[in-house]
Amino acid sequence: MKTIVKISLSVVVGSVIFFTGCNNTPEKNTEIKTAKLVSEESLGLRKVDLYNENTVTPDETKYSKEYAGSGHLIKRAFQDAPPMIPHDTEGMLPITIDNNQCVGCHTPGVAESMNATPIPKSHFTNFRPHHKFDGKKFEKSIDNMKNEIAIQEKDVLVNARFNCSQCHAPQSEGQLVENTFNAEFTSKDGATKSSWSGSKLTEGLDTILGE
Ligand code: HEC
Ligand code: HEC
Repeated sequence: MKTIVKISLSVVVGSVIFFTGCNNTPEKNTEIKTAKLVSEESLGLRKVDLYNENTVTPDETKYSKEYAGSGHLIKRAFQDAPPMIPHDTEGMLPITIDNNQCVGCHTPGVAESMNATPIPKSHFTNFRPHHKFDGKKFEKSIDNMKNEIAIQEKDVLVNARFNCSQCHAPQSEGQLVENTFNAEFTSKDGATKSSWSGSKLTEGLDTILGE
């Protein structure tokens, strides 16, 4: 009984100190008074308040007009980022099942003669496991809980990579907002070349199965 009284007494004393402590913090009050107000104009990219949005003319989107083969390249944003398309894509998009001009110029073997970067090994590698399904029973071919992955090298472009513009986009020139991001490339030529091939493709994976 004595200990219970002691405990509740210390709780009461403790909370009194706690509450008075909170009320008397002078720094907190000053902080609220001097807090800067944020104006509507400073919030968005348009730099006007919400009521004047219709007066704003957005910056023009300027996609590259350089023809494919002009030698113009754009630095990669970070190590092994999908490179941006540096050339004009007029007449090349959208990519359809019967018309993929990107493959025409970028397929290894052809690309080198045109000075186009060849489609890398990773795009000829299938990372999709081939599960079994006989119409009734579904059986997984990999165990995700064991961090297993199926990788198979192919002679042909893997279907998952057919729609190039899903990952590679043209780049509009100009700078809408300041960009202070500084990429730290892990390979020396990371700004111009992909390093995602060979043993790099499977780095950090526990179990690799054929398919
Ligand atoms: C007429 C041939 C041709 C066609 C068609 C073509 N490209 Fe290119 N591409 C090039 C060449 C050549 C380069 C190298 C830069 C240059 O000289 O323009 C290049 C550069 C690139 C790059 C930058 C590579 C790097 O190393 O930074 C990407 C990405 C790219 N093309 C994607 C595409 C996509 C996606 C398509 C289809 C929408 C496409 N290209 C269609 C010839 C072509
Ligand atoms: C699912 C996303 C995806 C699709 C679809 C895709 N790519 Fe890529 N691509 C990437 C990524 C990520 C990289 C950089 C890492 C690597 O090399 O795999 C890359 C790299 C490249 C490179 C630079 C290779 C180097 O050695 O520096 C070229 C060229 C390229 N892709 C062309 C293409 C073309 C052409 C297509 C369509 C046939 C295509 N890609 C479809 C994601 C994609």
